[in-house]
Amino acid sequence: MIDKIKEYITEVEQFTSSDKEEIEAFRIRYLGKKGVLNDFFAAFKSVPNGEKKEFGQAVNHLKNAAQEKVNALKEALESQADQKSIYGDLTRPAEPIPLGARHPISIVKNQIIDIFSRIGFNVSEGPEIEDDWHNFTALNLPEYHPARDMQDTFFIQTDPDILLRTHTSSVQVRYMEEHKPPIRTISPGRVYRNEAISARSHCFFHQVEGLYIDKGVSFADLKQTLQYFTKEMFGKSKIRLRPSYFPFTEPSAEVDVYWGLETESDYKITKGTGWLEIMGCGMVDPNVLKNCNIDSTEYSGFAFGIGIDRIAMLLHQIPDIRMLSENDVRFLGQFKSVL
Ligand code: DAH
Repeated sequence: MIDKIKEYITEVEQFTSSDKEEIEAFRIRYLGKKGVLNDFFAAFKSVPNGEKKEFGQAVNHLKNAAQEKVNALKEALESQADQKSIYGDLTRPAEPIPLGARHPISIVKNQIIDIFSRIGFNVSEGPEIEDDWHNFTALNLPEYHPARDMQDTFFIQTDPDILLRTHTSSVQVRYMEEHKPPIRTISPGRVYRNEAISARSHCFFHQVEGLYIDKGVSFADLKQTLQYFTKEMFGKSKIRLRPSYFPFTEPSAEVDVYWGLETESDYKITKGTGWLEIMGCGMVDPNVLKNCNIDSTEYSGFAFGIGIDRIAMLLHQIPDIRMLSENDVRFLGQFKSVL
């Protein structure tokens, strides 16, 4: 009989389960009223006196082992249930993490910064509320200069000297006032103009200004830089420079990139010409250098101004500039970017 008890002990020790009903069946089998242990207790009387001690110890061992096993398995089961109630079902698939999206203006701005930073341009910024000197006068647009009418300006009513900057060219002036050449900087930012709002124009939009000042900078450097930019930005390096006029550059040019006429949309965005205007540029006027205390006999440079909104609309086929400032998440959520 002792051997039989030992067999049961091994069985008890090996038993394991995380199923509530199985554990209960196990308990009943060993510890229940009609269980294995009760059978041994009933048999105790018929055990010869000399073997009673050993038999009693073995039965007690079995009883303790069975009881401990039941307790341990039940405890494990309960702590599992506790965990579930705090954390839910740990095996269920995770909730998706909603990822934000970058604004298309930021995407294009960051692309432009990335492209120019690779050829040594840093990023500079200036205030959106400007004074007349930085927005106009220092840029070779003295008072009563007719070219001031090119940009309808929001003035602060109580002070005609203070205005919302009409272009990021104001940052050129600020940067040159504070830094000595060589200068290679781009200045992204928001600008304001008192214009009627429509699908194609808004009273505020975004520009990136570029400025390069050093000894011996020529128009050829400007052209090469523009070609590099259009190749990196649009994958297109055929450009043309049309003579133009800006008070702060001489000579001045407007840059067109050859977009092609392969698709219907090419026809639409280039108005059937294949060419697309993307920015203004030129050699910085010596008067501007003088206004910023840079010796124009020693230094020369080029500048350019790119409209971010227009490029964002072009690249992402956004039909209406107002969509860029309406903050509709159904629109904004479509733009994912690494930059
Ligand atoms: N400031 C001009 C504008 O807002 C753009 C521009 C043209 C900037 C030529 C420049 C430049 O730096 O050289 O229309």
